[in-house]
Amino acid sequence: MSDRIKVLIVDDIPETRDHLSKLLGFESDIEVVGAAASGAEALQMAVALGPDVVLMDINMPDMDGIATTEQLAVRYPSAAVVMMSVQGEADYLRRSMLAGAREFLVKPFSSDELTASIRQVWMRERDKASRIVAPAAASATGTTGAGGEGPGTVVAVFSPKGGVGRTTVAVNLAVAAASLGGKRVALMDASFQFGDVGVLLNLNPKNKSIADLVPELEVGETDSLDSFLINHSSGVRVLLAPPTPEQAELVGAHHAKRVIERLRSEHDLVVVDCPSSFNDTNLAILDSADLILTLLSLEITSIKNMRLFLEVADQLGYGPEKLRLVLNRADSTLGIRVADVEHSIGRKVDHTIVSDGRSVVYALNRGVPFFLSNREAQVSQDVLRLANAVVGTAPAVPAATVKSSSKAAAKKSLFAWR
Ligand SMILES: Nc1ncnc2c1ncn2[C@@H]1O[C@H](COP(=O)(O)OP(=O)(O)OP(=O)(O)O)[C@@H](O)[C@H]1O
Ligand SMILES: [Mg+2]
Repeated sequence: MSDRIKVLIVDDIPETRDHLSKLLGFESDIEVVGAAASGAEALQMAVALGPDVVLMDINMPDMDGIATTEQLAVRYPSAAVVMMSVQGEADYLRRSMLAGAREFLVKPFSSDELTASIRQVWMRERDKASRIVAPAAASATGTTGAGGEGPGTVVAVFSPKGGVGRTTVAVNLAVAAASLGGKRVALMDASFQFGDVGVLLNLNPKNKSIADLVPELEVGETDSLDSFLINHSSGVRVLLAPPTPEQAELVGAHHAKRVIERLRSEHDLVVVDCPSSFNDTNLAILDSADLILTLLSLEITSIKNMRLFLEVADQLGYGPEKLRLVLNRADSTLGIRVADVEHSIGRKVDHTIVSDGRSVVYALNRGVPFFLSNREAQVSQDVLRLANAVVGTAPAVPAATVKSSSKAAAKKSLFAWR
């Protein structure tokens, strides 16, 4: 990619093409390399001119913007598509993102919005390209995973549906990883509104939480997180969620991101218990993570949401190596088999954890993780296997610094089913 952003305009209306060309002509870092009047012409011009960004009208006769974007992804995949539409409906947005568009602009838009979108998708593609090179460089320089010298691995425990066991898995995973010895393990409760980590670990809710850190982050004075972390007897260091939902409002995406980077720099493994809601903060956390343990259960709603999430994760640039599927309560005999799940979501389940209501709920009510109180149980063994797998994962340096309005836009439609 050169320093100037090469843009191809695709719109069947000549006046719109002219108008967009003129608008972009004022920008010193953007170069309009061509303007196509149809989808077919766009495909030819893209291959010939090598644009970085394609500004694509969604409504065109013959081949519309969505079909053209799909074809473009095959013929010239390095171009990032910014879709333009007069309709802002969720279905249009969703179909555009699934076709491979990186951004969605609703007409009429200002020239600032237009240029910001172009710059944003371009920067994101450039970051992505540099990240593809980075893991090779990391292994060449001997960067290790959790337990090694460099920065730690950040593992987000997520699910697109609530109540499937994220907190249970996050807490026991952190404890199991700490039991392996020699690992500095942090556990961050990012369910900021209704955090349960403190309950599962029987921690005093009067302890400091991330809400206490926010003012320090605002003025950039966080020397060390030590005074905000609670030392649990297992060795895990815990950063609690705010004590009330109102205080949770204070924690923004940039705070969460900075906290994670600080935790990463001071620990070998950072386990983050994420909410299932999809807001900018959670998106920033998932971006920062090296690994997203995505939990599902043998329920049709969980499977449906997972299928949609996997499509979306792909559009958000989360490669298959970043996502691991964890089937919780995998042995539940509720009429759906693991093979059915895998067939439905088109992907293998990476890890399974058995259902053990007795151990899990007893542990929860006592405030002692089952991994500590009932180590021999199958459910503990499953979590230990997961911990071993996670600890062996190298961080995907550099951590993603992607912040995009298309992601924010995507989330609106992507999670509309919830
Ligand atoms: N493997 C398991 N076997 C039996 N029960 C389980 C298992 N995992 C989780 N549970 C139970 O499922 C319920 C939900 O678990 P948990 O609170 O960890 O889910 P969550 O995804 O964090 O939910 P929330 O959306 O409320 O944050 C709890 O009652 C928990 O004890
Ligand atoms: Mg939870």
